[in-house]
Amino acid sequence: MAMAFRRGGVVLLAFVLALCLSATELEARLGVDYYHKTCPHAEFIVMDEVKKAMAGDAGLGADLLRMHFHDCFVRGCDGSLLIDSTPNNKAEKDGAPNNPSLEAEAFEIIDNAKKRLEAECKGTVSCADILAFAARDVVVLSGGFYYKVPAGRRDGRVSMASETLTNLPPPSFDLNQLTQNFAQKGLTQDDMITLSGAHTIGQSHCSSFSNRLYNFNSTFSQDPTLDPAYAAQLKQECPNTSGGANQQVPMDPNSPTTFDTSYYRNLLANRGLFTSDQTLMSTPTTAAKVWQNAANWFAFQKKFGKAMTKMGKIGVLAGSQGEIRENCRVVNGFH
Ligand code: HEM
Ligand SMILES: *[C@@H]1O[C@H](CO)[C@@H](O)[C@H](O)[C@H]1NC(C)=O
Ligand SMILES: *[C@@H]1O[C@H](CO)[C@@H](O)[C@H](O)[C@H]1NC(C)=O
Repeated sequence: MAMAFRRGGVVLLAFVLALCLSATELEARLGVDYYHKTCPHAEFIVMDEVKKAMAGDAGLGADLLRMHFHDCFVRGCDGSLLIDSTPNNKAEKDGAPNNPSLEAEAFEIIDNAKKRLEAECKGTVSCADILAFAARDVVVLSGGFYYKVPAGRRDGRVSMASETLTNLPPPSFDLNQLTQNFAQKGLTQDDMITLSGAHTIGQSHCSSFSNRLYNFNSTFSQDPTLDPAYAAQLKQECPNTSGGANQQVPMDPNSPTTFDTSYYRNLLANRGLFTSDQTLMSTPTTAAKVWQNAANWFAFQKKFGKAMTKMGKIGVLAGSQGEIRENCRVVNGFH
């Protein structure tokens, strides 16, 4: 009797263990300090390269942060954004949301880190992980909070420009469209509001929002939800000419290179740059979140790290899937 009970217990225990294992397997096997034994300086090397690059041009940091987002939303965080186009394949980086807005120099930062990592621990650190570490380092080097980056992503072998427009939200999206787009990636509306806080650093081309200044809709040439004084300033920086569309403006004119909560204070003053920014104020529940983020620097920084960690787990390849690319621009074995 006692024997049978004990055996039942063992079977039950084995069953519970099996359940736990398959649950973590679905979670994709990422871990903090993933390269602790296999490449102990990995995160230091990435930080060092990002620091050097940002010391030369602080604006490059914003590109890296945006690149991690654009990598994760297209085929998961698999480094597919970093692959170069070939004569037979137009890659993600040449899709409209990425080219020409992502700077060539930002991709070179990843190359420099990868070269050092290959020299120190060959075939170990994935390009997807380098990008995830680099995005975190940008936040830290811009005055935001450090967060731990679970790693172990493997690199994908497929990158298609045609998948960028269908997966990445355009700046014209309204609240419902943004919420749906993020939901398709397993992220909540609150995650979306928090991650939009990344627009507290960086620059935008005038073409991303000039419709709000010059041809909004049949009733208003200028978006009535945009603060008129800010609109007038933007019109100076973005004249209604073909050359004007290529100019760039800071996304957060108050503190363009500081990772603070100024983005949310801009929204409270109707000074969101894109429709997709200002739309966060369009319902009482989302406006309340904007207020909270604007008012509580500490809470926002903590939430941002959590939301980035969640975004960094979208569709990752792990275990024996994918590969560790030798050169972030080329899939292994392609000549
Ligand atoms: C919520 C939906 C989002 C939309 C519609 C959106 C759209 C855009 C657009 C149109 C630009 C300007 C590109 C240009 O004209 O040069 C931009 C810039 C930027 N975005 Fe987003 N974005 C979104 C979410 C995010 C997220 C989640 C992150 C990162 C976590 C992010 C980080 C950035 C950064 C850092 C820049 C500045 C890039 C630079 O200075 O080169 N964005 N975004
Ligand atoms: C902007 O330029 C376009 C094309 O040149 C023109 O049709 C439009 O009237 C201009 N809008 C404003 C508000 O100046
Ligand atoms: C133009 O935009 C305003 C403000 O968003 C809106 O109230 C109005 O209904 C729009 N008009 C048309 C014709 O779409």
